[in-house]
Amino acid sequence: MKGIILAGGSGSRLHPMTLAMSKQLLPVGDKPMVYYPLSVLMLAGIREILVVSTPADQPHFRALLGDGSDLGLAVDHAVQPTPGGLAQAFLIGAEHIGHDPAALVLGDNIFHGPAFSDLLVENAKNVDGCVLFGYPVTDPERYGVGETDSTGRLVSIEEKPARPRSNRAITGLYFYANDVVDLARELTPSARGELEITDLNRRYLDQGRARLVDLGRGFAWLDTGTPESLLQAGEYVQTLQSRQGVRIACVEEVALRMGYIDADSCYRLGARMGNSDYGRYVMAIARELG
Ligand code: TTP
Repeated sequence: MKGIILAGGSGSRLHPMTLAMSKQLLPVGDKPMVYYPLSVLMLAGIREILVVSTPADQPHFRALLGDGSDLGLAVDHAVQPTPGGLAQAFLIGAEHIGHDPAALVLGDNIFHGPAFSDLLVENAKNVDGCVLFGYPVTDPERYGVGETDSTGRLVSIEEKPARPRSNRAITGLYFYANDVVDLARELTPSARGELEITDLNRRYLDQGRARLVDLGRGFAWLDTGTPESLLQAGEYVQTLQSRQGVRIACVEEVALRMGYIDADSCYRLGARMGNSDYGRYVMAIARELG
């Protein structure tokens, strides 16, 4: 399976913070926001990843992630010239996807929960259609909302419904069969001029090929789109990290635990940042697991 991180957009709700800086490079806790979605793809076992960003921000993503080889990954970079919608990721990423299934994760979504890697790996197998991940929220009218039958098959999707049929928001992580590129090509832009992911998902729903997997109550799904939610996400990460002494979305640690790099390489990555707590943590993990 190939991965795409969609890290463009305008970030207008975070102005002026995002006037000169990509939202997905802002700090959440002790690391850039994009580390969180990157670690999700890595935990799913995905190593070929396309990072889609704005033309102005692309050099910064390249500086941060390079070609991914430090983490045992193959990272490519592409631009989205203007915010043409989430489903545009599959047109921009068509060549990257090739003949494989694809996972899309939004660059500003943070997931954290128990046995997440197992859940991801299990659901990334044999994707026949699309797999969406649902999360219970108190304000479903702000989100795309999904409803399933007893087998987990999606039976309705509503976008920001006034009267939601369920409280399960559809999160920013999506797995698709290879035909996602063809289906995305058939989409027409919405009234706001974007290729909408909900329209794409509805195609799969109409074909009876859409599943919604629940992230249980032990999970955290955090959005970072507003100053308040960005701060809350940072506080969540900081609280758990300082209490437990483990780090969330430390991509060097994930690479080591997933077997993408060895302990020596991991140690060297930490030593490059040895003046920070983050760097020292990476070195300690490499020593512990080496
Ligand atoms: P949004 O939060 O919906 O949009 P935004 O990031 O532009 O922010 P704002 O509403 O404050 O202006 O986007 C969700 C994620 O998807 C975010 O990581 C940005 C990304 N995105 C793109 O990369 N391209 C797009 O065309 C759109 C609409 C979003």
